[in-house]
Amino acid sequence: MLKIVIFRVLILKKMENKISQILKFDSLNSTNIRALQLAQLGDLQERQIVFTDFQTNGKGQNGNSWQSETSKNLTFSFLKRHSVSIENQFFLIKAVALGLKKYIDNLSVGMVKIKWPNDILVNGRKIAGILIENSIIGQKINFSIIGIGFNVNQTKFPKYDREAISLAILRGRPMNRERILEDLFQEINLQLDRLEDDAANVSKEYIASLYGLGKTMEFEDEGGNFEGVILSVLPNGKLQINKMAKLKTYDLKEIKFIT
Ligand code: BTN
Repeated sequence: MLKIVIFRVLILKKMENKISQILKFDSLNSTNIRALQLAQLGDLQERQIVFTDFQTNGKGQNGNSWQSETSKNLTFSFLKRHSVSIENQFFLIKAVALGLKKYIDNLSVGMVKIKWPNDILVNGRKIAGILIENSIIGQKINFSIIGIGFNVNQTKFPKYDREAISLAILRGRPMNRERILEDLFQEINLQLDRLEDDAANVSKEYIASLYGLGKTMEFEDEGGNFEGVILSVLPNGKLQINKMAKLKTYDLKEIKFIT
């Protein structure tokens, strides 16, 4: 009986999180930039997607750019209102990364991991990235723009530090992007909604999904290359590593994964 109730609640939540409209642009500088502009004008509602097949200035994390072959992948952004505080903003990353992981897990295409803070890897190769930008008023997040770049049908990639991969490479055939967008959007929003009443478990699942968790891996910090073990991620989003039997804590720009 309980199982049936939980199943019904899940179906209802999925329906509530359906895309209402896809705002499709042939070309944009960045879907995050456009989504932010639209949101500031009051012209973007939750569940509307800003989508393009070509970004001239796709933004990655840490000031990097995001490259994606025209019309092959998913590059989109959407607006999310929530009650996550500024101090807890890393929870947003956890939920979105977990949504992507769970969606790809269901496709059974390989081993899906989250490389801290928010790269999605399949079999150690990057398949998706996340860029969350918050609009802040006073001490509060007014809304967040969540941008996703997901390699779907691209089969050749430039040489990156970490090799890229796509669903088409993993599946051996092209996939329907619109269908993926719909299902992925629902999964991401299911995870974001969990932040209202189940944030501790979102956190646990995020940490359990980390690439390299508990394994000896090679990193680089200001002191050079070293071998260390990822232990956890703090609530503020910093990475905890065991470096030569000492507990070290890193911010995004302070450490690089070599392995
Ligand atoms: C990263 O891994 O560095 C994050 C990449 C995020 C890329 C997406 S593509 C859609 C949205 N618009 C952008 O300009 N960036 C995000």
